[in-house]
Amino acid sequence: QDVDAEPPAPSGTLAALRDAARTCTRCPLHCQATQTVFGEGPDTAELMIVGEQPGDHEDLAGRPFVGPAGRLFDRTLGEAGIDRAATYVTNAVKHFKHEPRGKRRLHRTPNAGEIDHCRWWLRHEITLVKPKLIVATGATAMFALTGEKGRLADHRGSVQPFDDGSALLVTVHPAYLLRLPDPRAAEDETRRFRADLVAARDWL
Ligand code: URA
Repeated sequence: QDVDAEPPAPSGTLAALRDAARTCTRCPLHCQATQTVFGEGPDTAELMIVGEQPGDHEDLAGRPFVGPAGRLFDRTLGEAGIDRAATYVTNAVKHFKHEPRGKRRLHRTPNAGEIDHCRWWLRHEITLVKPKLIVATGATAMFALTGEKGRLADHRGSVQPFDDGSALLVTVHPAYLLRLPDPRAAEDETRRFRADLVAARDWL
Protein backbone atom coordinates (compact mmCIF):
# COMPACT_ATOMS: atom_id res chain seq x y z
CA GLN A 1 0.00 0.00 0.00
CA ASP A 2 1.28 3.44 -0.91
CA VAL A 3 0.43 5.28 2.29
CA ASP A 4 1.16 8.70 0.80
CA ALA A 5 -1.02 8.29 -2.27
CA GLU A 6 -4.31 9.24 -0.66
CA PRO A 7 -6.11 12.51 -1.24
CA PRO A 8 -5.86 15.27 1.36
CA ALA A 9 -8.46 15.56 4.10
CA PRO A 10 -11.60 17.09 2.58
CA SER A 11 -12.19 20.42 4.23
CA GLY A 12 -8.64 21.66 4.72
CA THR A 13 -9.00 22.81 8.31
CA LEU A 14 -7.25 21.51 11.38
CA ALA A 15 -10.60 21.00 13.12
CA ALA A 16 -11.81 18.79 10.25
CA LEU A 17 -8.54 16.86 10.26
CA ARG A 18 -8.79 16.29 14.02
CA ASP A 19 -12.38 15.14 13.59
CA ALA A 20 -11.46 12.71 10.81
CA ALA A 21 -8.62 11.29 12.91
CA ARG A 22 -11.07 10.24 15.64
CA THR A 23 -12.17 7.27 13.54
CA CYS A 24 -8.80 6.45 12.01
CA THR A 25 -8.29 2.74 11.25
CA ARG A 26 -5.22 3.12 9.02
CA CYS A 27 -3.28 0.70 11.20
CA PRO A 28 -4.32 -1.83 13.87
CA LEU A 29 -3.22 0.38 16.80
CA HIS A 30 -6.69 1.95 17.04
CA CYS A 31 -7.98 -1.42 18.31
CA GLN A 32 -6.08 -1.26 21.58
CA ALA A 33 -6.16 2.48 22.26
CA THR A 34 -8.89 4.35 24.14
CA GLN A 35 -8.98 7.18 21.61
CA THR A 36 -7.00 9.07 18.99
CA VAL A 37 -4.71 11.63 20.60
CA PHE A 38 -4.45 14.33 17.97
CA GLY A 39 -2.15 17.36 18.08
CA GLU A 40 -3.22 20.48 19.92
CA GLY A 41 -2.39 24.14 19.70
CA PRO A 42 -3.11 27.09 17.44
CA ASP A 43 -3.19 26.54 13.67
CA THR A 44 -1.07 29.70 13.44
CA ALA A 45 1.73 28.33 15.64
CA GLU A 46 5.25 29.16 14.46
CA LEU A 47 6.65 26.24 16.44
CA MET A 48 5.50 22.63 16.17
CA ILE A 49 6.85 19.99 18.53
CA VAL A 50 6.51 16.34 17.60
CA GLY A 51 6.72 13.50 20.13
CA GLU A 52 6.56 9.74 19.62
CA GLN A 53 3.09 8.55 20.55
CA PRO A 54 0.61 9.05 23.41
CA GLY A 55 1.40 7.20 26.61
CA ASP A 56 -0.96 5.76 29.19
CA HIS A 57 -2.03 9.16 30.59
CA GLU A 58 -2.42 10.75 27.17
CA ASP A 59 -4.50 7.82 25.93
CA LEU A 60 -6.95 8.35 28.78
CA ALA A 61 -6.94 12.16 28.68
CA GLY A 62 -7.03 12.47 24.88
CA ARG A 63 -4.30 15.13 24.94
CA PRO A 64 -0.57 14.93 24.06
CA PHE A 65 2.16 15.24 26.68
CA VAL A 66 0.11 15.32 29.90
CA GLY A 67 1.77 12.41 31.79
CA PRO A 68 5.17 12.27 33.54
CA ALA A 69 7.13 12.98 30.33
CA GLY A 70 4.65 15.78 29.63
CA ARG A 71 5.33 17.39 33.00
CA LEU A 72 9.06 17.40 32.32
CA PHE A 73 8.32 18.67 28.81
CA ASP A 74 6.16 21.52 30.17
CA ARG A 75 8.70 22.48 32.81
CA THR A 76 11.59 22.53 30.33
CA LEU A 77 9.58 24.46 27.76
CA GLY A 78 8.83 27.05 30.42
CA GLU A 79 12.49 27.28 31.44
CA ALA A 80 13.42 27.74 27.78
CA GLY A 81 10.95 30.63 27.48
CA ILE A 82 8.55 28.80 25.16
CA ASP A 83 4.81 29.23 25.67
CA ARG A 84 3.14 25.85 25.21
CA ALA A 85 -0.20 27.53 24.55
CA ALA A 86 1.33 29.21 21.49
CA THR A 87 2.95 25.98 20.27
CA TYR A 88 1.41 23.15 18.24
CA VAL A 89 2.21 19.92 20.09
CA THR A 90 1.63 16.58 18.39
CA ASN A 91 2.94 13.04 18.05
CA ALA A 92 4.28 10.95 15.16
CA VAL A 93 1.76 8.23 16.03
CA LYS A 94 -1.70 9.12 17.29
CA HIS A 95 -2.69 5.92 19.11
CA PHE A 96 -1.13 4.43 22.26
CA LYS A 97 0.76 1.20 21.54
CA HIS A 98 1.15 -0.97 24.59
CA GLU A 99 1.10 -4.45 26.03
CA PRO A 100 -0.64 -5.50 29.24
CA ARG A 101 1.58 -6.33 32.22
CA GLY A 102 -0.64 -7.16 35.18
CA LYS A 103 -2.77 -4.07 35.74
CA ARG A 104 -0.31 -1.84 33.88
CA ARG A 105 -0.16 -0.99 30.20
CA LEU A 106 3.46 -0.98 29.13
CA HIS A 107 4.47 1.39 26.34
CA ARG A 108 5.75 -0.27 23.15
CA THR A 109 7.68 1.63 20.53
CA PRO A 110 5.74 1.97 17.27
CA ASN A 111 7.25 0.13 14.31
CA ALA A 112 8.15 1.62 10.93
CA GLY A 113 4.86 0.48 9.35
CA GLU A 114 2.77 2.13 12.05
CA ILE A 115 4.82 5.31 11.76
CA ASP A 116 4.43 5.24 7.95
CA HIS A 117 0.65 4.96 8.21
CA CYS A 118 0.36 7.74 10.74
CA ARG A 119 2.69 10.05 8.82
CA TRP A 120 -0.32 10.93 6.66
CA TRP A 121 -1.86 12.82 9.60
CA LEU A 122 1.41 14.47 10.57
CA ARG A 123 1.97 15.69 7.01
CA HIS A 124 -1.47 17.26 6.97
CA GLU A 125 -0.92 18.88 10.35
CA ILE A 126 2.28 20.43 8.98
CA THR A 127 0.54 21.57 5.78
CA LEU A 128 -2.27 23.24 7.73
CA VAL A 129 -0.23 24.78 10.55
CA LYS A 130 2.73 25.77 8.36
CA PRO A 131 5.15 26.05 11.29
CA LYS A 132 8.38 27.95 10.80
CA LEU A 133 10.23 25.43 12.91
CA ILE A 134 9.49 21.80 13.80
CA VAL A 135 11.20 20.21 16.81
CA ALA A 136 11.41 16.41 16.61
CA THR A 137 11.78 14.87 20.05
CA GLY A 138 13.31 11.41 19.83
CA ALA A 139 14.09 8.85 17.15
CA THR A 140 10.47 8.05 16.23
CA ALA A 141 9.67 11.69 15.50
CA MET A 142 12.94 12.05 13.58
CA PHE A 143 12.11 8.98 11.48
CA ALA A 144 8.51 10.10 10.91
CA LEU A 145 9.66 13.50 9.68
CA THR A 146 12.81 12.64 7.74
CA GLY A 147 12.79 8.89 7.07
CA GLU A 148 16.16 8.90 8.80
CA LYS A 149 16.82 5.82 10.93
CA GLY A 150 20.36 6.74 11.95
CA ARG A 151 21.64 7.83 15.33
CA LEU A 152 19.74 10.73 16.80
CA ALA A 153 23.03 12.14 18.14
CA ASP A 154 24.24 12.67 14.55
CA HIS A 155 21.35 15.05 13.80
CA ARG A 156 20.72 16.62 17.16
CA GLY A 157 20.74 20.27 18.13
CA SER A 158 21.19 22.21 14.90
CA VAL A 159 18.44 23.74 12.81
CA GLN A 160 18.27 22.19 9.32
CA PRO A 161 16.12 23.11 6.32
CA PHE A 162 12.95 21.03 6.05
CA ASP A 163 10.12 20.66 3.52
CA ASP A 164 8.21 23.64 2.17
CA GLY A 165 10.43 26.27 3.67
CA SER A 166 10.11 25.21 7.29
CA ALA A 167 13.08 24.12 9.41
CA LEU A 168 13.74 21.15 11.65
CA LEU A 169 15.58 20.70 14.91
CA VAL A 170 16.09 17.23 16.37
CA THR A 171 16.47 16.66 20.09
CA VAL A 172 15.93 13.87 22.60
CA HIS A 173 12.58 12.72 23.90
CA PRO A 174 11.73 13.83 27.47
CA ALA A 175 10.89 10.21 28.45
CA TYR A 176 14.52 9.32 27.72
CA LEU A 177 15.57 11.82 30.40
CA LEU A 178 13.23 10.18 32.91
CA ARG A 179 14.73 6.77 32.21
CA LEU A 180 18.36 7.75 32.88
CA PRO A 181 19.36 5.93 36.07
CA ASP A 182 22.24 8.23 37.04
CA PRO A 183 20.92 11.55 38.48
CA ARG A 184 24.01 13.44 37.31
CA ALA A 185 23.57 12.17 33.75
CA ALA A 186 19.85 13.00 33.92
CA GLU A 187 20.66 16.54 35.05
CA ASP A 188 23.25 17.03 32.29
CA GLU A 189 20.99 15.61 29.63
CA THR A 190 18.05 17.72 30.81
CA ARG A 191 20.27 20.78 30.56
CA ARG A 192 21.16 19.82 26.97
CA PHE A 193 17.48 19.29 26.16
CA ARG A 194 16.73 22.75 27.55
CA ALA A 195 19.59 24.22 25.48
CA ASP A 196 18.07 22.66 22.33
CA LEU A 197 14.71 24.26 23.16
CA VAL A 198 16.40 27.61 23.78
CA ALA A 199 18.07 27.25 20.35
CA ALA A 200 14.62 26.63 18.87
CA ARG A 201 13.17 29.69 20.60
CA ASP A 202 16.11 31.86 19.51
CA TRP A 203 15.85 30.68 15.92
CA LEU A 204 12.22 31.82 15.63
N1 URA B 1 5.38 10.73 24.91
C1 URA B 1 5.13 11.22 23.68
O1 URA B 1 5.93 11.07 22.77
N2 URA B 1 4.01 11.89 23.47
C2 URA B 1 3.12 12.09 24.41
O2 URA B 1 2.10 12.71 24.12
C3 URA B 1 3.40 11.58 25.69
C4 URA B 1 4.52 10.89 25.93
